Amino acid sequence: MKPIQVGLLGIGTVGSGTFHVLQRNQEEIRRRAGRGIEITMVADLDVARARSVVGDQVQVVNDARAVIANPDIDIVIELIGGYGVAKSLVLEAIAAGKHVVTANKALLAVHGTEIFAAASAKGVMVAFEAAVAGGIPIIKALREGLTANAIQWIAGIINGTTNFILSEMRDKGLDFDVVLKEAQRLGYAEADPTFDIEGVDAAHKATLMSAIAFGIPVQFDKAYVEGITKLSAADIRYAEQLGYRIKLLGITKRAANGIELRVHPALVPAKRLIANVEGAMNAVMVQGDAVGTTLYYGKGAGSEPTASAVIADLVDIARLHTADAAQRVPHLAFQPDEMSDAPVLPMSQVVTSYYLRLSVSDEAGVLARVTGILAGAGISIDAVLQREADEVGGEGSTHTDLIILTHDTVEGTMDRAIAEMQALPTVLAPITRIRKEELA
Ligand code: HSE
Repeated sequence: MKPIQVGLLGIGTVGSGTFHVLQRNQEEIRRRAGRGIEITMVADLDVARARSVVGDQVQVVNDARAVIANPDIDIVIELIGGYGVAKSLVLEAIAAGKHVVTANKALLAVHGTEIFAAASAKGVMVAFEAAVAGGIPIIKALREGLTANAIQWIAGIINGTTNFILSEMRDKGLDFDVVLKEAQRLGYAEADPTFDIEGVDAAHKATLMSAIAFGIPVQFDKAYVEGITKLSAADIRYAEQLGYRIKLLGITKRAANGIELRVHPALVPAKRLIANVEGAMNAVMVQGDAVGTTLYYGKGAGSEPTASAVIADLVDIARLHTADAAQRVPHLAFQPDEMSDAPVLPMSQVVTSYYLRLSVSDEAGVLARVTGILAGAGISIDAVLQREADEVGGEGSTHTDLIILTHDTVEGTMDRAIAEMQALPTVLAPITRIRKEELA
């Protein structure tokens, strides 16, 4: 059978990796796919750079629309990123009857409903393994490998930049700002790291996993998003003393009254495997009712790890593109007319446990007043840690840190209790609250 022809939009880090891995492993890939897969056309604004990657055998243009208009191209790979021109190009490729492979989590998390509907109407596939956790085949696992299960929850370290920063903060006892600068110097963090450090990138990925796990539409606008910028070295140290590590988690969970979808730093027991995922690595835990707990680990970014996911999608399309569209794996795992309308819950209805750090006057009755407020709210305390005032504020200090771990409670109840504790004159600074996930 003649090779399937692929057009590539954007040949930066991931595009180059895709080209090289396809070339290097072409024979094995052909034996798996049942036919060859060839990138025959590349569009990039930097034509010279593109040419230096692909040589003279591949047509290079600076106009992405020329690729979409080429009738010989069967699959378009979109590696431009962002919501702007990438959205128009993906929709135009679909309208032209091309299958699309993309690593663009932002685009799909925000505009996925429109894009998947357009693809279904046209009978083409939009594949996005590379959009979540880079080289880890988590989309394949959720959509196909775990298809027998009622998924109960997913919790993932799905942003390598923030995991690198948190690992460095813990290892070196440094504060966030210092480590961020170092991460930028080493090239681990982007010059503008906002999407990573504010949790937005992780929320895009969690949104996609949530849709696939629970058969709900992609709803990035409903995700709760909190990054790592406010974490201090002190909190990481206290967590460690209590047997926990702090990780930025993307969590989605089936609850009685809806679906939780949230990204925030969380204390995780140090003995869990996922708590020991260090540096820029990614890991995703999935709990299914039949399979129990599963864990997927690997590189969440980088040229060839991400190319690995892109090419897996190309192979799927090469195998399935002649199949009846109704027989293909649905974009979001569930048939489009079988989607659930379970609501994504507001954060005030989420149930979890908490780490609280209160800077308090070191005087009689303070602990009793604080615990009295928690008891009054029906919040059960799991552990309390109080450091000596000298250790916290230096010799002769009159204030200290009070650390409280709670059992599960509803976030709205915790919000009210925190407001009440904050109003105590003996509470001297804004209370730090970090959620705690046992992941048992
Ligand atoms: N910037 C992401 C990360 C990789 O740090 O994991 C691409 O989503």
